Amino acid sequence: AKTIGLMGAMDEEIALLLERVENQETAVIAGIRFVKGSLHGKDVVVCKSGVGKVNAALAAQLLIDRFEAGAIWFTGVAGAVHPDLDVGDIVISSSCQQHDMDASPLGYPRGTVPYQEVSDFPADPVFIALAEEACTRLCRDHKYIVGRVLSGDQFIADRGFVSSVLYGEMEGACVEMEGAALAQVCGMNRVPFVVLRSISDKADGSADVNFAEFTKLAAQRSFEILNDMVQHL
Ligand code: ADE
Repeated sequence: AKTIGLMGAMDEEIALLLERVENQETAVIAGIRFVKGSLHGKDVVVCKSGVGKVNAALAAQLLIDRFEAGAIWFTGVAGAVHPDLDVGDIVISSSCQQHDMDASPLGYPRGTVPYQEVSDFPADPVFIALAEEACTRLCRDHKYIVGRVLSGDQFIADRGFVSSVLYGEMEGACVEMEGAALAQVCGMNRVPFVVLRSISDKADGSADVNFAEFTKLAAQRSFEILNDMVQHL
């Protein structure tokens, strides 16, 4: 069976995973700590990429090259874009796209990488189904949606930008800072992936306050689903 790379951007997002991985072996490459081991009898490598697209891209390529990850699953928190989403709800990536890639003066729609065939990278349908099944088992008082994850090197706290651009123009479900980077790296390497995000804030004027308050809880929710997915793989 292939090794699964399990990725988060922040300590809160991977802390619970690290508590459960057995037979841990640690390596540090390019300043990123990778922990190899097994989770529910499956080979996994857990890493904290750090925040933002460059960190996520680097960590994803290292997972593939140095740890022979045959799949990458991301767990973490995000700001809500779809108007139906509340704090604690879950987004399973149907695809991931950069919202801050903008060559519109050249005639490209926002999010389109010039001279590149794909800009909206589709997640693996088997992993999406696995995540949906985990959500049906675990999401009692919260909803989940399968939708587009938008990523950029910006913490979004502007509902006007969310409704006009991220939702209105780009049809996103949630916004965060890593998904599209690892999605592109996975796409280019033909490695299947899925991004799982629990909503920590509404990406509006209260995003900073909500983020601080709800990140731990949201990260835990995302972890629980990912953990269930590993169990049922
Ligand atoms: N991650 C969690 N909330 C976010 C937001 N509002 N913008 C970007 N990334 C986030």
